[in-house]
Amino acid sequence: MTATLITNIGELTTNAEGDDPTGTLQDAAVLIEGDRIAWVGAAADARPSGQLRILDAEGRAVIPGFVDSHTHLVFAGDRADEFEARMTGTPYAAGGIRRTVAATRAASDEELRRRLRALVAEVHAQGTTTLEIKTGYGLTVADEERLARLAAEVTPEVTYLGAHVVPAEYSDRRDEYVDLVCDQMLRACVPFSRWIDVFCERGAFTAAESRRILAAGAVHGLIPRVHGNQLGPGEGVRLAVEMDAASVDHCTYLDDDDIAALAGSRTVATLLPGVEFSTRQPYPDARRLIDAGVTVALASDCNPGSSFTSSMPLMIALAVREMGMTPAEAVWSATAGGAQALRRDDVGVIAPGGRADLVMLEAPTRVHLAYRPGVPLVRTVIKDGVALGEARS
Ligand code: NIG
Ligand code: FE
Repeated sequence: MTATLITNIGELTTNAEGDDPTGTLQDAAVLIEGDRIAWVGAAADARPSGQLRILDAEGRAVIPGFVDSHTHLVFAGDRADEFEARMTGTPYAAGGIRRTVAATRAASDEELRRRLRALVAEVHAQGTTTLEIKTGYGLTVADEERLARLAAEVTPEVTYLGAHVVPAEYSDRRDEYVDLVCDQMLRACVPFSRWIDVFCERGAFTAAESRRILAAGAVHGLIPRVHGNQLGPGEGVRLAVEMDAASVDHCTYLDDDDIAALAGSRTVATLLPGVEFSTRQPYPDARRLIDAGVTVALASDCNPGSSFTSSMPLMIALAVREMGMTPAEAVWSATAGGAQALRRDDVGVIAPGGRADLVMLEAPTRVHLAYRPGVPLVRTVIKDGVALGEARS
């Protein structure tokens, strides 16, 4: 088994050691054995031996690999024209999803796989080591099944999102579509999925439809997640809490009752500032959520319509600049917060027994992720104990 000692880490964010949530250590070292963290401590206490490969961080910062708990990466087509129109005033509408559905249905498995793998490579290169991927651009039994199957080739965190929108061919038979989502389509996707999601929003699915769909998934062991309160106030957040969803995502329009419900629950509020950036919507108020005691995660929502970016450093910079988060909170939310949104305790932290997923920054502190927006600060990405671009030995 390969063992690597990363030493001379100027600032190590563990999200685990000590009382502060970031668990920050100065002048630290991390020992990796195989695909796990074996030891974390002061560089002065590390015991380098001849058996160990040494990686000298030369004072740089190391953080856990990013956990992107919300993406829609399996699709074909391009909607740059919609983005361009939005930048001159056309509002975002959920109906654009149907364009991607048409392009995705027309694409072969091979084309979808090639595009997906290119996006996954882009994701990893930017420091994301755990990735959730949703279906939702197929919307037939066969197409949702193949999107779930392709997603499962690259991540264990697959979400069945047959309830993304009602496809055009069912527009005057929406009850029949909900039946399909709850029955045949669900059964086809269950073998590849861990989660079930629904877009609970005006123009997509009502709270009653969403409740039925999530309950059907739960019968098959899928854990609920919800897209809610993205385009306006609504029932998505309260439904997510009622269903004990792992996460409710977007949370752009919240009232006091939504926040109180979240604070009294174990449902994570996942904020997706790439969407507000790309749709010219107001940013969600992360400060209000955190001050109320809600657990907040940050994710990219990478998709061709509302947020075509896979950059977690960009999410951190936006959260700090526009949403009232401190740099420490934003980095926590993009790592440990995402892990909680996926109910994982082996990622998002740098702690003995956890997965050896970490990122060395070309910077002395994590603050640089917000302080130097747009600069590629991810120097080395280690996933499952192996540096990106390096073969497992
Ligand atoms: O999370 N809100 C619903 N789904 C995506 C948008 C998908 C699209 O526009 O293609 C989202 O923003
Ligand atoms: Fe989404």
